[in-house]
Amino acid sequence: MTQPAERAPIRSVADIDLSDWDFWGRSPEEREHAFRLLRDLDTPAFFEEPEISFAPRGLGYHALVRHEDILEASRNPEIFCSGDGGATNIVDMPPEFTEYFGSMINMDDPRHARLRRIVSRAFTPRMIKQFEADVEVAASRIVDELLATGPGCDFVTEVAAKLPLKVICDMMGIPESDYGFVFDRSNIILGASDPEYVSDPEDVATALLTAGMELQALVQDLAALRQETPTGDLTSSLVNANLDGERLTAQELGSFFILLVVAGNETTRNAISYGMRLLTLNPDQKRLWLEDVDGRAPGAVEEIVRLASPVNYMRRKVTRDHVMNGNRYRAGEKVVLYYWSANRDDRVFADPLRFDIARDPNPHVGFGGPGPHFCLGAHLARREITVMFRELLRRVPTIEAGEPERLFSSFINGTKHMTCEF
Ligand code: HEM
Repeated sequence: MTQPAERAPIRSVADIDLSDWDFWGRSPEEREHAFRLLRDLDTPAFFEEPEISFAPRGLGYHALVRHEDILEASRNPEIFCSGDGGATNIVDMPPEFTEYFGSMINMDDPRHARLRRIVSRAFTPRMIKQFEADVEVAASRIVDELLATGPGCDFVTEVAAKLPLKVICDMMGIPESDYGFVFDRSNIILGASDPEYVSDPEDVATALLTAGMELQALVQDLAALRQETPTGDLTSSLVNANLDGERLTAQELGSFFILLVVAGNETTRNAISYGMRLLTLNPDQKRLWLEDVDGRAPGAVEEIVRLASPVNYMRRKVTRDHVMNGNRYRAGEKVVLYYWSANRDDRVFADPLRFDIARDPNPHVGFGGPGPHFCLGAHLARREITVMFRELLRRVPTIEAGEPERLFSSFINGTKHMTCEF
């Protein structure tokens, strides 16, 4: 990869290639600039698909970067579908990946609806209450440990990553002794493009498949136990038939678990880390939040998710020729929905780069656009971010974050490491 100092500056749209890995190594400021140029185009830019060693290149994709296009595409899943190669990757997912990564996020109705129904029913009010209480206990312990460790430690691994990991594992019934195992595999799955997690790009496919297989084996072993002796956890409700006689098959459970671990862990972790950095860079907003920690939390959390946009994009495939907001899309082409860019669209957000915890309205698409795939964990994620910051602001109000070490990825806006002082 080209070193940052050697990269030519981006002067016009002609200098932008979202499929070039080099682009994703640029600074956040250059990325902001590039997406602003793309949003100013009347017709979305069209790119060749990235070249990867283990999947064929398709017809290419339109980069949807404006808020209105993302809402419209999300609302029309019959035209912009998530199946047929997957929503979580630009190139079509090779068949051998489907076993582990072919979960509902990469499906269309009616299969998607069936899975979402089974899974959503397992999130009963009793279970939601239970995990809300667990989030508070977990966040409080994390802050106890942070205070015991002292300043200078890595905020990402010591604070931000711990809460979502514990919450997901507890929900599923995964014991604490396996947290480290789950954490490492989920880092590989979403951080495979970063040399810290997979050092040789040639090894990416094997690393992904191995991590998927290992997580699947972990949850399937647990499922066998829960079929014999159900407990109150999510695994028990998913493998034993519900009132309508529905349950997940072993493969469905495996790929759903992988989706939950990855979607629930990496995203919330990155929102918390990004939020900490935003508060450090914007002491006026931190002061405002400190004046009314509970009252200002809902607005602050939405604003953190908007600017963090932990999931940079999802893609859809065009099922039939279609005109949307004046532009033509042809069957077989793809569209990539850049949530990160839509959340900075000044047609919708005044002064979009400003961190404003009182922003209202705040119609961000950090959890996806309106439609069948809207984030299943949005409620839980909001809860985790709220509780984590409540604990931090009350008990460590002087905490500040250092310079973030960013994940090298086009898909996840991630922070790998970041020191904190207090
Ligand atoms: C700040 C944290 C989070 C962010 C930014 C986020 C973002 C997203 C986005 C953008 C989608 C839309 C996918 C699409 O339209 O194709 C999505 C879907 C999903 N998310 Fe989240 N998510 C977060 C937290 C969570 C948590 C905590 C969980 C699990 C408990 C979770 C589970 C899921 C699942 C299962 C889906 C797929 C839903 C479906 O296909 O029907 N997410 N998320």
